[in-house]
Amino acid sequence: MKIFQNLNRWLDFRPNITENQSIGFIPTMGALHEGHLSLIEKSINDNELTVVSVFINPTQFNDQNDLKNYPKNVEKDLNILSSLNVNYLLLPSESEMYQHGYDYKITENDLSLKMEGLERTGHFDGVLTVVMKLFNIVKPTCAYFGEKDYQQLRLIVNMVESFFMSIKIISCKTIRTEDGLALSSRNSLLTAEERLIAPKFYDALKSKKSISEIKKSLNNYGFKVEYVEVYDGRLFGAVKIGNVRLIDNEKI
Ligand code: PAJ
Repeated sequence: MKIFQNLNRWLDFRPNITENQSIGFIPTMGALHEGHLSLIEKSINDNELTVVSVFINPTQFNDQNDLKNYPKNVEKDLNILSSLNVNYLLLPSESEMYQHGYDYKITENDLSLKMEGLERTGHFDGVLTVVMKLFNIVKPTCAYFGEKDYQQLRLIVNMVESFFMSIKIISCKTIRTEDGLALSSRNSLLTAEERLIAPKFYDALKSKKSISEIKKSLNNYGFKVEYVEVYDGRLFGAVKIGNVRLIDNEKI
């Protein structure tokens, strides 16, 4: 695996990849787990070359404490990635990614304002902006995103269509632990006690009960419910348990 810590080095190198080599790309914010790995493995299977980026994107955090506490484990990430057949790892810095600060951004005005966007003002502007930048940097054939962040996935598909970008977006199933909890980098912040209760969130989402019953049972388990909502034939939810925010969704 070739590691690019300097964005210009990658940009200089990129023309060496010929047009007939398919490139699969997996953007991440690191603290890698089996969910990320499922995307990476799919890309390795489907493409000649696989590029992974690790960049904790500050513009998608509306809460500075959340950004400060976001789990980081670069050494472990490097070990995981080099044991796979990833070809290129990009580790850009904030100043390289945001040469002009945050003066230029991508804004979506409909779905990005619902659910996660309502709770986290500006979150999806940050996500779409950084994904647009990364797509222009990597110029992948296809890019892999998890259904765990279904609203994000939908917004990226729509952005690619809206701007006629020739990148195929591949959606990947949510990877869960045996007790049903969706894998997330933030799970490492749960206390042992919270970790025991956390799977009740997904249990409730797939219970087929009414939204008000689901909210009631989540409250009884001690979750603070931010939203439980139907959109596009799926049930979406966000809860807080202690200081940790969990999101999940399930097809209905
Ligand atoms: P991050 O949370 O690191 O997730 C990177 C990718 O892994 C996303 O596509 C996400 O949906 C997927 N993923 C996370 N947990 C998963 C799980 N349990 N099962 C399957 N896929 C999972 O999402 C982001 O980073 C950022 O917003 C990013 C797109 C990198 C832009 O900064």
